[in-house]
Amino acid sequence: MSARLRIAIQKSGRLADKSLELLEAAGLRVLKGANELLYRIENAPIDLLRVRDDDIPTFVGDGVADLGIVGLNVLEEREDGRSAEPVQVMNLGFGKCDLKIAAAIGFDYKGPRSLQGLRIATTYPHVLNRFLAENGVTADIITMRGAVEVAPRLKLANAICDLVSTGATLEANGLAPFETVLRSEAVLIRAPKQIEPELAK
Ligand code: PRP
Ligand code: ZN
Repeated sequence: MSARLRIAIQKSGRLADKSLELLEAAGLRVLKGANELLYRIENAPIDLLRVRDDDIPTFVGDGVADLGIVGLNVLEEREDGRSAEPVQVMNLGFGKCDLKIAAAIGFDYKGPRSLQGLRIATTYPHVLNRFLAENGVTADIITMRGAVEVAPRLKLANAICDLVSTGATLEANGLAPFETVLRSEAVLIRAPKQIEPELAK
């Protein structure tokens, strides 16, 4: 059992810089050493595990990391049953973005019913599926790994469900958002097993 607290953070991407800034603002001195996977904290028994955001819920659920900073979007999308469920501790107030459904500008949206029978491309099949089921709508979900914004132009899908922050990506692709599926921001999560008192001090 490791005597150092482990915090999983995103190595690069949307939340990476802000996560480090938050920990530094909390007084932790981060040693950016040669090991890219692990940064040590100089003034506390803490290690930062720098991993892909999609892997953070698994690391924390399995207790490999005690805490994690991850987007709610990633947490909500994770596959059930792969590992124990991490516990959500608090919202962190940064990394705000929305998971939205969008289609070509001019699409006549009259509520979730308008999605019936459409092909919707997304990297968030679970969250989208839940939204459709909650609204009693059946649609074809096309799961992609990225670049979903090109799907309508390629006639691969009629609509997309993707993260929107500034809206620049949608605009650049002639798409407009018309439904919010999830409001996301960075959240602090912890392992389901209580953190040892020695480490929590
Ligand atoms: C998201 C999304 C868009 C972009 C939207 O990708 O897939 O490409 O951000 O942001 P905007 O509204 O400010 O243009 P992200 O950067 O999270 O990368 P990933 O989903 O491929 O990890
Ligand atoms: Zn990712």
